[in-house]
Amino acid sequence: MSEMIVVRDLVKNYGDFCAVSHISFTVQEGAIFGFLGPNGAGKTTTIKMLTTVLEPTSGTLRVNGHDPVHEQKKVRRSFGIVFQDPSLDDELTAFENMDLHGALYGIPRGERARRAQALLELVGLAERQKDFVKQYSGGMKRRLEVARALLHQPRILFLDEPTIGLDPQTRNHIWGYIQTLSKEHGVTVFFTTHYMEEADRVAGDVAVIDHGKIVAQGTPAVLKQQTNTPTLEDAFIALTGHGIRDEEATSADRMRRMAAVWRGRRR
Ligand SMILES: Nc1ncnc2c1ncn2[C@@H]1O[C@H](COP(=O)(O)OP(=O)(O)OP(=O)(O)O)[C@@H](O)[C@H]1O
Ligand SMILES: [Mg+2]
Repeated sequence: MSEMIVVRDLVKNYGDFCAVSHISFTVQEGAIFGFLGPNGAGKTTTIKMLTTVLEPTSGTLRVNGHDPVHEQKKVRRSFGIVFQDPSLDDELTAFENMDLHGALYGIPRGERARRAQALLELVGLAERQKDFVKQYSGGMKRRLEVARALLHQPRILFLDEPTIGLDPQTRNHIWGYIQTLSKEHGVTVFFTTHYMEEADRVAGDVAVIDHGKIVAQGTPAVLKQQTNTPTLEDAFIALTGHGIRDEEATSADRMRRMAAVWRGRRR
């Protein structure tokens, strides 16, 4: 088995602020790896460095054996990504979004169409492929983003909160495709989520990052054992504390928390 993602002593500073501080981990081929941490912990920053979007301040990275700083093309061909923020073109149809992505990767037209069809079937969108994305629900958009990330047949899939805001059915579907990709096609999966029960269910290994530092890593079972807690969520809270990351929280997070308070008051 080969190491598909290697991170050694990685650091990212934004000016004076250290967002990622000397983190190290490896992900084996075909593994499903969960990168967990509170808001503002440094998860997206790490993904951006692995996917050539941001240059590290220091440290060593390998993605499919290539260096994201000096071998950007080879790295970019190795992975597909679902970004934390939606990145579809609402004014195009689902098929056109897929086709455009395939064209950007230089896949010939016929092959592009064949793959797009198969992937749209995988995520249950084949019948709606001619609809404009602006007419899609949130869950349909996320499934389309997963399908699009797979169009160039990457060896590694990065998923930054792929199931945020989705109903349990859609979340289960998405994890179902992802587990199939890992098991049957040997695709390596690197994901983040705030839903600890999802990570517990699908991840082989997880790493917990807080304030830019990795505070624990291992299987979910090992983390529960180390913290003497019954669930991964309890282990996560034991490792990262009860405090809200207020300064880092997005307005969307604040709205969700306020809504939860109001729901609590109504009861
Ligand atoms: N371009 C930037 N300039 C300055 N600071 C930044 C920048 N991008 C991110 N940060 C800061 O770096 C820290 C890590 O951010 P990052 O987006 O990696 O967190 P995250 O773990 O993905 O959080 P979330 O779960 O909320 O998505 C935060 O404190 C954030 O405010
Ligand atoms: Mg993030």
